[in-house]
Amino acid sequence: MNSDRLSKKEKFFDRWAPNYDCLLTTVFYQAIHKRLLEYVELPEQPKVLDMGCGTGRLLNRLATSFPTLQGNGLDLSREMIHQAQQCNQHGVRLTYTQGNVESLPFAEEQFDAVFSTISFLHYLNPQQVMLEVKRVLRSSGCFYLVDTAVRDDISGNYIPFFSGGLRFYSHQRREQLGRAAGLECLSHHYLLGSALLTIFAA
Ligand SMILES: C[S@@+](CC[C@H](N)C(=O)[O-])C[C@H]1O[C@@H](n2cnc3c(N)ncnc32)[C@H](O)[C@@H]1O
Repeated sequence: MNSDRLSKKEKFFDRWAPNYDCLLTTVFYQAIHKRLLEYVELPEQPKVLDMGCGTGRLLNRLATSFPTLQGNGLDLSREMIHQAQQCNQHGVRLTYTQGNVESLPFAEEQFDAVFSTISFLHYLNPQQVMLEVKRVLRSSGCFYLVDTAVRDDISGNYIPFFSGGLRFYSHQRREQLGRAAGLECLSHHYLLGSALLTIFAA
């Protein structure tokens, strides 16, 4: 059942990838990325992971703002990874891998920050993803989660969608998911409309 939904998502994003950076989506997503950067704090020579990185726009932006940053992008869709590699503006500083966020192909305590923008809504097992984030973050690291927020009474409800279903989370549900994985919620910030940034500390 889950593997069926996962493969639907992969196909959906594979098809979208070549046109993902068209005007409508790029204006909206890039406005969110820009606002997110106002809240990002990183140490010198940071190592970061962008989960569900899509075409790699956020990592390009982060690498421009933090000239010593090394970034890894992970995405389920091979085509998204292909686009991200084509659009990489920072050479060897940014690397892209195809994979599932539920099983991150990285060793323990590798990253100073993990990002997930407009992607968490697609994750089939959000609690497992939180555990993975906690595992790969350094003890001083932060997780920046950006997604549409909903009211608590409809938080986490399954919404059928042809990409294999969606789930949106409230402030409270995000805090609970983080807590259960050992991540402490530091703050919430609305970035654009209902797009909510939640910052967690490892
Ligand atoms: C709407 S796009 C957002 C892309 C990018 N983060 C941005 O801000 O533009 C959602 C991305 O999440 C990826 N994704 C969905 N489920 C995933 C999973 N389980 N593991 C890895 N990537 C996933 C999709 O392939 C897609 O590229």
